[in-house]
Amino acid sequence: MTLLQIMSDKDAADVTLRTEDDAVIAAELAKRGITFERWPLLENLTGATSTEDLLAEYASRIDALNADGRYKFIDVARIHPDESDPEWPAKATAARTKFLDEHRHAEDEVRFFAAGQGCFYLHLGDEVLATVCTAGDLVSVPAGTLHWFDMGTRPEFVAVRFFEEEDGWIGDFTGDKISGGFPTLDELVGA
Ligand SMILES: [Fe+2]
Repeated sequence: MTLLQIMSDKDAADVTLRTEDDAVIAAELAKRGITFERWPLLENLTGATSTEDLLAEYASRIDALNADGRYKFIDVARIHPDESDPEWPAKATAARTKFLDEHRHAEDEVRFFAAGQGCFYLHLGDEVLATVCTAGDLVSVPAGTLHWFDMGTRPEFVAVRFFEEEDGWIGDFTGDKISGGFPTLDELVGA
């Protein structure tokens, strides 16, 4: 389920809005300069759909988003639990930890979730907007926006990523440990 929970940046318990209504989520994010769209879901899409097929199926949407050609690097990131791999728990933790602290990027962080889920926490002024994205959600976090990302303790998603530069994913970490005081993805969706 796609979910938006808005909290005070000083106190996560001070929740001013919690909604699963796509239209309200898009409106609240738009008010704050964040792009959020719902793209139609492919009925035949599975975690096994190849990157080539996925990009081909969404070609018209991707081309429209990239009409000005600003995104030179478009790829697909995937993570899927593999209980048969003894290294999986360590891999999952390493992947999750990477962007779990507050950071910003030099370019917009643009993601389309074709499957699975992940939560962007947008730290805008005195608010934190926890935005749980699920299959069909496109979100664009503007360059310079303070944020962090939680893929949960059992990471599972397929996401199309749009970059202007090859190293556009690199994060500039603020050193602020604010993320530790906010509900995790697991907590948000289990709430
Ligand atoms: Fe990021």
